[in-house]
Parts: sequence; structure tokens; C-alpha cells
Amino acid sequence: MAEHTGRVRVGIVGGGRIADLNKIGWLAHERGEIVAVCDVDAATRDARAAEWSCRAYADLDDLLADPDVDAVEILTPHHLHADQAIAALDAGKHVSLQKPPTTTLAELDAVAAAADRAGTVCRVFENFSSYPPHRLARRLVDEGEIGDVLSVRIVTAGGRGEGQGWVVPPEANAWRMDPALCGGGMMTFDHGFHCFQMGRLFVDAPVERVHAFINVVDFGDGLQIDAPALISWRYGGPLPRFGSWELVASLELDVLSDYYVSDDRIEIRGNRGIIWVNRCTGQLLQEPAVVLYRDGEVRSFHRVESDWAASFRDCTFDFIDAVLEGRPAQLTLAEARETLAFALAAQLAAAEGREVAVAELG
Ligand SMILES: NC(=O)c1ccc[n+]([C@@H]2O[C@H](COP(=O)([O-])OP(=O)(O)OC[C@H]3O[C@@H](n4cnc5c(N)ncnc54)[C@H](O)[C@@H]3O)[C@@H](O)[C@H]2O)c1
Repeated sequence: MAEHTGRVRVGIVGGGRIADLNKIGWLAHERGEIVAVCDVDAATRDARAAEWSCRAYADLDDLLADPDVDAVEILTPHHLHADQAIAALDAGKHVSLQKPPTTTLAELDAVAAAADRAGTVCRVFENFSSYPPHRLARRLVDEGEIGDVLSVRIVTAGGRGEGQGWVVPPEANAWRMDPALCGGGMMTFDHGFHCFQMGRLFVDAPVERVHAFINVVDFGDGLQIDAPALISWRYGGPLPRFGSWELVASLELDVLSDYYVSDDRIEIRGNRGIIWVNRCTGQLLQEPAVVLYRDGEVRSFHRVESDWAASFRDCTFDFIDAVLEGRPAQLTLAEARETLAFALAAQLAAAEGREVAVAELG
């Protein structure tokens, strides 16, 4: 185990598209090491085993029986997350589980119960929280630069998928377009988990009420795309504070990106100033990553590291360090539960055409 070797040796479960970014931290951290991969697809499994010089398993149980595996990083479709995480915890492994952690709160509660039994580190991998410009924005809020936060506005622009950004294989989209496997819409639930987490990041009050317009384009055979969408919410506490997330998929829009063709930007308004985070996955307009307005003056933060990959590296570093130090890693399951309830409240609000109290989700 990690305690004896001084290293955290990981088995990566699911070697698909996002493994290209999840691997970075494991390769860069001097005390992290990829020792195994598990994938049901033989070609993916063999390619990753060759790339990472590690063992390959077709079956998760075989990877979990490997005594050299201290931790498991789960990068599979969402309907598999709960069972795989619980199996890994019951095998005594530390677990990093890609967002969204599960498709329901009941599944997440079962994962939490398994984590309590195991006593190992179990966290949800949500990298927008680790993105350096988002961390800088949170620090500026903490330092009182904009006073009390009054609103958080998130805008996502999805662009033309062909000929720019990453090549995303059709298999990686197929399961996402099926809400039974994804847990909700591929835009508002899968990508949405990040945006709901951002909705929570800058305000120290729970999200209490949610309203959502989500347009669903139905292709038949259970396949759907959920865009455009306009989701709004109210935070608890004495101040009237609101947030919103507007998502538009513009099928002929060029979005400069080294990754997904998606541009996410955030505007945080306080009673004294405003912060803009102008980029994340994509680089649509190439402005400074963070801009602060206060007292008639504008400060632009050009030097903050803003490659989206840095968020993956730092999120993985936090997990490795947490295992070595015996402390929780971000997101804790309790934090992730609040974000999942928020995400599910938005799905319910759109489906039923009404405002939903997050507490209704349980
Ligand atoms: N943090 C982010 O920004 C981000 C971005 C993309 C994806 N993700 C998350 O990462 C996860 C994977 O997404 P992806 O885009 O890489 O998907 P993908 O479809 O490209 O890869 C999934 C992989 O899992 C494998 N797999 C399927 N069933 C399996 C099983 N039972 N056991 C072992 N392997 C199995 C598939 O063969 C495939 O190689 C999802 O949770 C997704 O939401 C996060």
C-alpha cells in the first residue's frame, strides 16, 4: 500500500478520451505512478498499457485483486460509476471518481457508505474547481475585492465539432446521448456538473431553488441532445442572491480550443466590484483569463496559468497528496452530493416545468 512504498500506484479504469488529461498528473507527480489499466475494449486497453508501460486487465475484479494497485481512477460511463467505486472501496483501494459521480443521490449515498467502511480516500474528480483562473477568482472573492457576492452568471458556448479542437470518437458521445447511461442530458447533466459546481464555488450559501428551461432534441432510440438551456437559481441566506447558466450549442461557431470546442465564462458580481473569468476549456476571444473591476479601475490577470490541462494536473496532485497525507481530497463526497442534488434539481425542474427546491431531492 501507499503507506509502505511512499508512492501512490494507480489503476486507471476506462482508458477513453479523457484519460489523455487524467494521466497528466499521474505522470508528472514524483510520487504517483500508473501501474495498471482496465478497459473492456481490447484495442484501448492494449494501447494504454503500451503507452503507460503498465499491466492491462479486461476485468475490474482482476485489477482490484492486484496488490500493487493502491488507488483506482474511474473514467467510465456514468451508469457504471457507483458499482465500480463500491467494488474498489470494498477491495480497500483509494478512489478518484470522475464527475458526475453517480446518476442518482441513492447511488452516491451507497458509495459514501462504502467509503466509510473502507476508510480510504474517496473523492470526486471535478477539475473546474482546480482550474487556476477559478481558484484566483475565489481568492479575489475571499480577499473582499468585490464585496458581497450578489450573483454568479455562467455562459457556455458550444461550437462546431468538426475540424477543430479534439477529435471525440462517436462511441464517447453515444452513451452520453442516452440519459439512461448518462444520468441526464449530455450538456446539462454531464458538462453541467462542472457548471453547477461553479455555481456553488463563489458563494458560501447553499443553492435552494432552481428553475430550468432545457430544450431537448430527440433523435429517437433513446438518444437526445439537451440544448439550448437557461437555468437559474436562488441561494439561501438573508441576501437576495441569484445565479444563472446559459448554454447555447452553436453548430457553426468556431471556438479555438486544444480540447473540447466549448467556451465557458463566468461573471461574478459583488456589491463593490465584478470579476470575469474569460476562459476555461476553450479560448474563444483570447482575453486575459481573469479581469477584476473595482472603484473605477480594471485589473487584468495575464500571468495566471490558464491551459485547461493544468486543472487536471492539479486535481490529480491533490488526490495523490491526500492519499500520502491521509487527508480528504476535493471534491469530498459531501460536497459532490450538494452539486449532484443541484444538477438533478435542474433536470427535474425542466422536465416538470416548475421551480424545484433542491431539498425535494432528499
Ligand atoms: N472532467 C472533465 O472535464 C471530463 C471531460 C470528459 C469526460 N469526463 C468524464 O470522464 C468519464 C469518461 O468519459 P470519456 O469521455 O473518457 O468517455 P469514453 O467513452 O471516451 O471512455 C470510456 C472508456 O470506458 C471503457 N469502459 C466502458 N465500460 C467499461 C467497464 N465496464 N470496465 C472498464 N472500462 C469500461 C470504454 O471502453 C472506454 O474506453 C465520464 O465520467 C465523463 O463524464 C470528464
